[in-house]
Amino acid sequence: MTTTMSDILVHTEAGTTTLTFNRLDKKNSITAAMYATLADAVEAAAADPAVRCVVFQGHETVFSAGNDIADFLNNPPATEDSPVFRFLRAIAQFPKPLIAAVCGPAVGIGTTLLFHCDLVYAGDNAAFSMPFVNLGLCPEAASSLLVPQMLGYHRAAEALLLGEPFMAEAALEVGLANRVLPPSEAAGYAQAVARKLAAKPLSALVETKTLMKQSQLPKVLAVMADEGQRFGRMLREPAAREAFGAFMERRKPDFSQL
Ligand code: COA
Repeated sequence: MTTTMSDILVHTEAGTTTLTFNRLDKKNSITAAMYATLADAVEAAAADPAVRCVVFQGHETVFSAGNDIADFLNNPPATEDSPVFRFLRAIAQFPKPLIAAVCGPAVGIGTTLLFHCDLVYAGDNAAFSMPFVNLGLCPEAASSLLVPQMLGYHRAAEALLLGEPFMAEAALEVGLANRVLPPSEAAGYAQAVARKLAAKPLSALVETKTLMKQSQLPKVLAVMADEGQRFGRMLREPAAREAFGAFMERRKPDFSQL
């Protein structure tokens, strides 16, 4: 597994920090080192008064395949200070607008991070999935709270219990995406929106987002911590070991004894 700093590109210009998943050979799956870079960049953007918003983007063909399965198998996050949990808390508490441009597969955290974004622009090839159960795991990123809230309980059960993907148009319908665009236009559109936001007064952006989010934030953080404990335990249990081993060996997992 190679993880280099360039697996996450961090670029700040004209009031916007753009974070690009840039590990295309592994479908932009995210290692602990990449989470650390992301957490550092989001925390820095929150503290820097020159930054008005943050944009997440991947590639036109894939947003992110979620957690790097080999990395999770070998180095499961052990504590609340693990980079993945630090990153999740940073986006949940980020005081300024968070935007995402999503094309192609957005798996696991590739989808759950979007529930913490304020504006989401999807390529018409976007495919959102949260296959935690299929991996012997449970939801993370407060998705067990936020997905039922946004999708309604039964559609959330389809997404979280069955792990079934849904496409860009369905994301638009439930309000997870603001707009569906040709994949070649999604990133540019997100940047244009970021430029609009960057021209607005920061204090008004921050106060408005705070007002929209503050009543639920303590609950979001509590659910995230609860999920994190369960997720960390489940990563070490036989079902996840079988699922991850099967992915690495390109075979179907066998949960018949689990
Ligand atoms: N972790 C580690 N490696 C991953 C990965 C992940 N989450 N997702 C993809 N890769 C790697 C594959 O092992 C493969 O590596 P190799 O070329 O060295 O064999 C490479 O990326 C290409 O993946 P592949 O599955 O061949 O691409 P695809 O276009 O057929 O499918 C996905 C793309 C994203 C649909 C598919 O890779 C996938 O489902 N990945 C797993 C997603 C997942 O379960 N994530 C965990 C969520 S918690």
